[in-house]
Amino acid sequence: MSQSRTMHLAADLSHIHTDYLWRAAGSWIGYPYLGPELYEECARIAARGCMDLLFFGDSANTSENHGGNHHAAVRYGMRWPKHDPMPFIPLMARAAQGVGFGLTMSTTYHHPFHVARLFNSLDHVTGGRIAWNAVTSAYKNEAQNWGFDEMMEHDERYVRATEHMGVACKLWDSVEKDAIVFDKTTGVFADPTKVHLINHRGKYFKVRGPLPVMPSPQGRPVLIQAGQSPAGIDLAATYAEMQFVSRNTLASMKKHRAELDARLAAHGRSPRDCGVLWSLRIQVGESDEDAREKERRYIASIPVEAGIIEMSHMYGIDFSALPADMPVIELAETIQRQNVHWGNFKEVLETIDPATTIAQLGRKNAIGKNHAILGTPKRIADQLEEFHYETGENGGFILAKGFEIPGYLRDFVEYVVPELQRRGLSKTRYSGRTLRENLNG
Ligand SMILES: Cc1cc2nc3c(=O)[nH]c(=O)nc-3n(C[C@H](O)[C@H](O)[C@H](O)COP(=O)(O)O)c2cc1C
Repeated sequence: MSQSRTMHLAADLSHIHTDYLWRAAGSWIGYPYLGPELYEECARIAARGCMDLLFFGDSANTSENHGGNHHAAVRYGMRWPKHDPMPFIPLMARAAQGVGFGLTMSTTYHHPFHVARLFNSLDHVTGGRIAWNAVTSAYKNEAQNWGFDEMMEHDERYVRATEHMGVACKLWDSVEKDAIVFDKTTGVFADPTKVHLINHRGKYFKVRGPLPVMPSPQGRPVLIQAGQSPAGIDLAATYAEMQFVSRNTLASMKKHRAELDARLAAHGRSPRDCGVLWSLRIQVGESDEDAREKERRYIASIPVEAGIIEMSHMYGIDFSALPADMPVIELAETIQRQNVHWGNFKEVLETIDPATTIAQLGRKNAIGKNHAILGTPKRIADQLEEFHYETGENGGFILAKGFEIPGYLRDFVEYVVPELQRRGLSKTRYSGRTLRENLNG
């Protein structure tokens, strides 16, 4: 995928309407809450900075872990509400050219025929600028919304995901690129010898095929995977062209890259077949002090209990029932048994002071669990350049949860992107027509 060594830039728009950002002083100013206008403006801003991707995550649960019911999540707007982000994408694509769009759909809860058909349409509507973030879904309660009594076991979710992505790819390939004849004189629409049944019969899916669609500009969406566990990395190494990864230190970023490269080799692929977009939070200011002041204001706007509620949601246990001064390390086995985000908690354990308490981790998590970089555009560019270089110049960065829109995106595009462009680290124009071409060019 990322044959180019320039940095690819993306932003995660999943939480701009939740997680205390719904009330933040700089959020949604001049835009109707949850109207399409602000999303369209984000697309225009991102395109001005030649950013590659705007991304929507997805999960369809209402967390009941904190306090044993849904009250905390609903009262504070913590990862709630969760509308389906898909319909916003065609509107954003019409508002701005160049920038691509990532949409998450779960391999555990959606059927591959539906996913393949939907992404074919989205690829047509966006003119070849769509990516699929294929996730296995690790939040409690979600299973019950989709007709299951219990969440499927972690590694089994990846068995299903591997089959799911394989079926989707077979469906996208079931109509050959030149199958459409569209000859009004002879009346032949398509060449039937170039349209194939897939006759898939696997452990989880039975699909006859073909996908009854016209081949789309990219043939299939750009494939993204965001798992951090060994099974998640293996799925990415099998199919993905890009991985989203959240790691807390440069050492663990390098370790992740090495693990991914080893799994890619095992699947007969090369490191450049799958880039990584590292998930980071950035706070840019005119001076370092200005950036620190912005960060202080941001932290002060978040309720003290926010991080603990988020931790209950993320790790599937009720942190409100545990002593705040308990070292989190003591919870390792309990959290592993929850069958949820173990990869993420393991990363926390490996990168924090072992004495860290629940209260301390909660405070840290309130502002997002991602690594943060603060400072002037120059300082931020220096840090991004170092991370990019040290991890093999193979991918780029996704701006993580925790920012007010539209100001934060505008500041990033107006101040940080030009500094990266001056250094030749990010592109100054979109070289291709499709998202895949732009990620390669
Ligand atoms: C930038 C980013 C976005 C993600 N978006 C989602 C998402 O929308 N839905 C989801 O269920 N998981 C998402 N994940 C993945 C989860 O955090 C988690 O790693 C995964 O679902 C659990 O798999 P694992 O055990 O292999 O890590 C995302 C991860 C990253 C780094």
